[in-house]
Amino acid sequence: MNEFARLAEEIAREAGDMLLAKRPTMSEVVETKSSPTDVVTTLDTASERLIRARIQEARPGDRVLGEEGGEAGGDSGVRWIVDPIDGTVNFLYGLPEWAVSIAVEVDGQVVAGVVNVVPRGEVFIAALGEGAWLGAERLRCNTGVPLAQALVSTGFGYDARRRAVQGRVLAEVLPRVRDIRRGGSCAADLCSVAAGRVDGYYERGVNRWDYAAAGLIAAEAGARVAGLNGKPASSELLLCAAPGLFEELHDLLAPLDPERDA
Ligand code: IPD
Ligand code: CA
Ligand code: CA
Repeated sequence: MNEFARLAEEIAREAGDMLLAKRPTMSEVVETKSSPTDVVTTLDTASERLIRARIQEARPGDRVLGEEGGEAGGDSGVRWIVDPIDGTVNFLYGLPEWAVSIAVEVDGQVVAGVVNVVPRGEVFIAALGEGAWLGAERLRCNTGVPLAQALVSTGFGYDARRRAVQGRVLAEVLPRVRDIRRGGSCAADLCSVAAGRVDGYYERGVNRWDYAAAGLIAAEAGARVAGLNGKPASSELLLCAAPGLFEELHDLLAPLDPERDA
């Protein structure tokens, strides 16, 4: 694994340990962002602060883009992309699907990704060209699964209007697949594709910090990670599945116009 993956792993583990220790007493909501249900807890901020401090200590010239603190730093060509807690609503409610996500980009390309799904004690790691790993296990996404047999996960944004459209799109997808899962963490969802725990994933409205690390993990496990109609994955839409299922899911979703908000 490249040095970035190792450093990201060390930092994601430290942040995860801090969150696990402090969650029982310190997980109150301190502000809301895009909607009343889009919350920030004291520990989202504390986790990001810790991660930024560790990056700064180890690599003072790098830039950092974090969900809570925005983008800042030097011009070394290296940018860290951080979601200090992905799955904050699960974190708040005590559900075991939340993660610390750290990716490292060199000249705009993600070269390392770490997703620490803290309550499960699972740290997913990928380095560009070196595979995706869960401990000693090399990850491979499921292949050869037809759409009608596919277990597909998805997620919903925080905005009520967008959610209404997402519900209508989902109503068309649901009868065409095996079943749907809504885990509550984009990063963990993409790692689940990598590990073969679901066959595919799609979501509108995800941000770079949600999928930068886990997108590499899924890709290194053999999945395609992209948007609609040949576009790269973006907040317009992210779609992830093994080649074959990817195209089937793409062709089901595209006519439903899932990139609209009304
Ligand atoms: C959210 C989670 C969720 C997804 C949302 C994201 P947050 O991130 O990844 O699964 O459906 O789109 O915003 O707010 O918990 O960091
Ligand atoms: Ca997130
Ligand atoms: Ca977050």
